[in-house]
Amino acid sequence: SPWRATVLTLFPEMFPGPLGVSLAGRALASGVWEIEARDIRASATDRHRSVDDTPAGGGPGMVLRADVLAAAIDAVGISPDRPKLLMSPRGRPLTQARVAELAQGPGPLIVCGRFEGIDQRVIDARGLEEVSIGDYVLSGGEIAAMALIDACVRLLPGVMGKEASGTEESFSDGLLEYPQYTRPQLFEGVPIPEILTSGDHAKVAAWRRAQSEALTAARRPDLWARIPPKAPNRPGRQK
Ligand code: ADE
Repeated sequence: SPWRATVLTLFPEMFPGPLGVSLAGRALASGVWEIEARDIRASATDRHRSVDDTPAGGGPGMVLRADVLAAAIDAVGISPDRPKLLMSPRGRPLTQARVAELAQGPGPLIVCGRFEGIDQRVIDARGLEEVSIGDYVLSGGEIAAMALIDACVRLLPGVMGKEASGTEESFSDGLLEYPQYTRPQLFEGVPIPEILTSGDHAKVAAWRRAQSEALTAARRPDLWARIPPKAPNRPGRQK
């Protein structure tokens, strides 16, 4: 059966949203993957259908109730092989390696946080894996969930076609992408780097590698620190 993302949200109408167009949208239409957006509010039990309440101990905002969210998770059904994720700025940062793992499995259940947070007891009791898409705060987990799903879907078999197929791009080798050029040969007086039109494939590859390394060292010292030193004089690494 196709890869499936099940999203628990208070705003199911946000899905598929941008995932319904372009690469992901075509794959969705052709049945390569599915999205199931479920309304957390459907699991509310009181007559006001309330899903949140004031934080224990005081403080601003509202907290998503443990009982309501647990019921929403349980209503999805038992599938112990599906990762249960919670989109949250507190989570472990999402990586291409985790994306590749998620793309290889049956597809995750994704809880979208809202308000000031969700009751810790449901995170613990259902073993939710908290995932962040970056060190900034969105108003809810939905857009973060879309980013995660998009990153997975493009790796599914048959979605990307021959181009790159996930191997020749940023992060697969731990380096940022080298710069790309196409026609016109002269843009506002600036030519395409001569080496790229030389036809010398070995020189092109070496130039691209050097560009990737220089960009990574300059912009992402965190990634650069993980690239094994290479003999003898790696930029930024001399003693
Ligand atoms: N929800 C709000 N901000 C988020 C973030 N940065 N990552 C994941 N989920 C979020």
